Amino acid sequence: MLVRSAIAASALMASGVTAWNKDVHQQIGYSAEQLLTPATKSILHHILEPKYNGSIGLAASWADDYAHTTEGAFSYQWHWIDSADNPPYYCNVYYNRDCTKGGCVVSAIANQTQILKSCISKVKKGELVHGEDLQCSYALKWVAHFLGDIAQPLHASGVAAGGNGLDVVFGNHSTELHAVWDGWIVYADANVTSFPNTTIQPFFKDLVSRIHKDDFSIPTAEWIACSDPSTPLECALSWARDSNALTCDYVYSQAFNGTNLATSGYATGAYPIVEVQMSKAILRLGTWLNKLVAGNYDHGRNVVLQTNPSWLLGPDGGE
Ligand SMILES: *[C@@H]1O[C@H](CO)[C@@H](O)[C@H](O)[C@H]1NC(C)=O
Ligand SMILES: *[C@@H]1O[C@H](CO)[C@@H](O)[C@H](O)[C@H]1NC(C)=O
Ligand SMILES: *[C@@H]1O[C@H](CO)[C@@H](O)[C@H](O)[C@H]1NC(C)=O
Ligand SMILES: *[C@@H]1O[C@H](CO)[C@@H](O)[C@H](O)[C@H]1NC(C)=O
Ligand SMILES: *[C@@H]1O[C@H](CO)[C@@H](O)[C@H](O)[C@H]1NC(C)=O
Ligand SMILES: *[C@@H]1O[C@H](CO)[C@@H](O)[C@H](O)[C@H]1NC(C)=O
Repeated sequence: MLVRSAIAASALMASGVTAWNKDVHQQIGYSAEQLLTPATKSILHHILEPKYNGSIGLAASWADDYAHTTEGAFSYQWHWIDSADNPPYYCNVYYNRDCTKGGCVVSAIANQTQILKSCISKVKKGELVHGEDLQCSYALKWVAHFLGDIAQPLHASGVAAGGNGLDVVFGNHSTELHAVWDGWIVYADANVTSFPNTTIQPFFKDLVSRIHKDDFSIPTAEWIACSDPSTPLECALSWARDSNALTCDYVYSQAFNGTNLATSGYATGAYPIVEVQMSKAILRLGTWLNKLVAGNYDHGRNVVLQTNPSWLLGPDGGE
């Protein structure tokens, strides 16, 4: 039985790894930069603090560092949504059931997107320059990070705290299933031990060129079927469900028991999955930011965010 209580899961998550590895987040950011319009780039330049030089690639891993500070601890749980899965029989994400009090990756994307909208208007009106509004810089850094996280299947699954509680072997590493999906599979796929942190690496350049050519088993248009920033909760939920489906389909599919996932066939089966998931993150992030800057959304529409489970005796005992 893999399913643990939400409390045990959160405790486990607290001790585990939290996201695509930092360098993978940065690569997703650098890749998304390739899709930004000149107008988007110039607006983002004013939103980010000067030390990022307008680069969401450079800024994409900030959220993990911040979550581990005392000041930013409140945002720690925004990096995932713990769905009540029972793989391989049942996997799905429901907002009111799974987004706990204090928020989750779905509510955080909606919240920070709404904040970012107002920041973009401020830049357009000349009221914000040089990243002087920290709330705005944070909103952009969170959006750049969370659109990555939500595409990592184990950030949309509550089983053993997103796989942080499942000990596995990968090559020479004794690790957890979560870490395997955060980095080890990606590194193995790209034949590297890490990615550079200041520039896009060839493996990711190739993903961007495949995005342009629509060269994946699933049409890229489907990845952004929901990409209207005026419906951020719906879109983020659809992205979480899309990731979560992979957990029943593949992610939890092998009996681990010391199986070496690097050589058992598990990793090679996962390569096309991580390539597609990271590419989804890249395309959604680029599209989202371009639409926000172009103003391609319903400006009158604002989501009323509610992150308390609305059902009796929910993950927080119905509090
Ligand atoms: C800042 O970004 C510009 C391109 O946007 C680049 O030409 C320049 O070298 C960068 N500066 C630093 C210090 O990285
Ligand atoms: C939205 O984000 C802000 C920080 O940017 C935070 O103070 C607020 O609590 C968040 N709201 C929800 C409902 O998560
Ligand atoms: C495991 O370690 C050995 C010895 O250090 C090394 O030769 C081998 O290439 C490593 N294998 C992997 C998959 O990293
Ligand atoms: C990584 O190495 C394998 C075999 O060693 C090769 O088939 C694959 O194309 C390489 N991948 C990249 C991204 O270089
Ligand atoms: C990039 O990595 C190097 C080496 O680990 C480190 O010194 C540097 O601070 C990193 N820079 C950024 C922007 O993450
Ligand atoms: C895994 O190992 C445990 C303990 O050795 C054993 O009881 C179980 O049957 C094994 N499961 C599989 C699928 O091999």
